[in-house]
Amino acid sequence: MINSFEKKIDDLKFQLESGVSENIDLSVNDFKKTTKTISIDEQENNSLSEISNLSELKKYIEEYSECSLKDTAKNTVFCDGNENSNIMIIGEAPGNQEDIEGKPFVGKSGKLLNKILNFINIDRNSCYIANIIPWRPPGNRNPSSEELKTCLPFIKKHINLTKPKILLLVGSISAKALLETDLGITKLRGEWKIYKDGELEIPTLPIFHPAYLLRRPTMKSLVMRDILLLNKKIKELNKEIIND
Ligand code: URA
Repeated sequence: MINSFEKKIDDLKFQLESGVSENIDLSVNDFKKTTKTISIDEQENNSLSEISNLSELKKYIEEYSECSLKDTAKNTVFCDGNENSNIMIIGEAPGNQEDIEGKPFVGKSGKLLNKILNFINIDRNSCYIANIIPWRPPGNRNPSSEELKTCLPFIKKHINLTKPKILLLVGSISAKALLETDLGITKLRGEWKIYKDGELEIPTLPIFHPAYLLRRPTMKSLVMRDILLLNKKIKELNKEIIND
């Protein structure tokens, strides 16, 4: 009881700090899940194009040996959350805590990301989370263009297998790589884009990285505006599903 009261106070403080005055309808984000059958066939494949499910992709990446980032990383960070969710969140690369736990966004940035998502009543179980790069770059440096080029096919395959209805790209590196643009996150955020891969077209929202917000807290209000765009899109998609 006390805990939930304290959480409410904490959430309100966060809302005030972020400069958002909208009331969020907490009932809207029971985002309809589409049922996808994920095969549990564990057969080893040696080529991405032959991979037909997430467990095969995970195994493939865990066994991949052509990226030197893997040599210094403790773990391959593949995903967290609900693979059947319609919302897929894609960050940049694991940090220290993610490397230790083998899960994306579990350190300081992850805690802030959770808060941002909680604001529109989304939690880690109602979305699916991955990174562009599955191994921690030493010292948390940015991945090189070569490393990005090597790992991009993994995340594209990951998106293709999960086929989310919405993509949330967290930070400049994932936004630039997946939207195939040189524009920075300041220009990309604030409006919906389309991620395209062959036949696949997915509404995509780039947002500032929480690590950037930890350094520049005044930018939180922009992320909160973006997250309200996400909330609106979820409501629209829910309506479409209900009217289908
Ligand atoms: N930053 C990211 O982009 N991804 C993580 O998993 C952690 C921090």
